Amino acid sequence: MSEYRALVASELPSGDYECKISNLPFPDEKEGHSIIRVSYSSLNFKDALSAKGNKGVTRSYPFVPGIDASGTILKSTDASLHNGDQVIVTGYDLGMNTFGGFGEIIQVPNEWIVKLPETLSLLEAMQLGTAGLTAAASVYELKDIRSHLPILVTGATGGVGSIALKLLQHLNFDVQVITGKPDSKLFSNLDQGSIIHRSDFENSDLKPLAAPKFIGAVDTVGGQILNRIFPLVDRKGIITICGMVSGPEINTTVFPFILRGIRLIGIDSAESPRSYKEELWQLLGSDWKIDLRDQSKIVKLDAMPDEINKIYSGLQEGRVVLQHGE
Ligand SMILES: NC(=O)c1ccc[n+]([C@@H]2O[C@H](COP(=O)([O-])OP(=O)(O)OC[C@H]3O[C@@H](n4cnc5c(N)ncnc54)[C@H](OP(=O)(O)O)[C@@H]3O)[C@@H](O)[C@H]2O)c1
Repeated sequence: MSEYRALVASELPSGDYECKISNLPFPDEKEGHSIIRVSYSSLNFKDALSAKGNKGVTRSYPFVPGIDASGTILKSTDASLHNGDQVIVTGYDLGMNTFGGFGEIIQVPNEWIVKLPETLSLLEAMQLGTAGLTAAASVYELKDIRSHLPILVTGATGGVGSIALKLLQHLNFDVQVITGKPDSKLFSNLDQGSIIHRSDFENSDLKPLAAPKFIGAVDTVGGQILNRIFPLVDRKGIITICGMVSGPEINTTVFPFILRGIRLIGIDSAESPRSYKEELWQLLGSDWKIDLRDQSKIVKLDAMPDEINKIYSGLQEGRVVLQHGE
């Protein structure tokens, strides 16, 4: 194999960015690195930012996005990794400034590589991907909560939100969602009272404190939505925050923190230590194993530009898995 296929994002003379399938040269071996044949990748919001030329994510182009990959080892300088071993790589610099999983081949530092748990397939690993790992890291912080009040999930049709919803239900939590797509089939097992329309919530009054409605929240959007969650969380409640689709700024008072003792926990799944990722992957392959077949679609490389546009516009539902090869 002297070349491999990849979706390459490039800057046009107009300053716009476009994604095209290209053949790239097979990489030379590098000390401390492994070469992996990618079977599957998945689409995350960050991939759309990279594909659209966001310099906060990717500094230089042409570039191959894809922060997730599952596949098999082709060559490794790590004695514990052998040809044919099935592995997962998520986060760190993959798909940011290191060519990512939208290519059939990746070359990554050995310490980024997690061995695929025996109880997960390469496909299941990418139905989860960074979104699943982030949802699991968020739910991990909430798992010991006991209350009659529900847990709230925002951006609930998105990758992180839809998996957090399923995980929380799997763990028998009562869940409510905030969404811009209240009719999504992802909510078929929720009653109407548990589905909050995003625009209603965004336009609701913002008070320093209000009657508690939730005992916790997995927030994936930040901004005006997060600001309105703080006053509604009951004593000792926990809010995890991982994203900023709605905005990066937080505007609240100290009251929910000093009068109700609520906690705000930041989630950074991309840069977390490999041992922590391994622990989450093991959990996702065992007690927390969920079936994502009905909320993920599998596409080929040529469909990715359209899927990227969709997630960038907030119109994606559930997960998009990229399958390489014919
Ligand atoms: N910290 C970490 O380690 C980490 C890891 C992964 C992702 N993230 C971040 O988490 C966020 C979600 O990622 P994702 O991959 O799940 O993205 P995604 O699939 O695009 O989901 C985001 C969801 O947010 C909702 N949304 C869209 N536009 C919105 C707006 N203007 N205001 C409020 N909600 C809006 C939509 O759901 P509804 O229509 O259902 O409301 C959308 O599906 C992103 O900001 C991403 O960068 C962080």
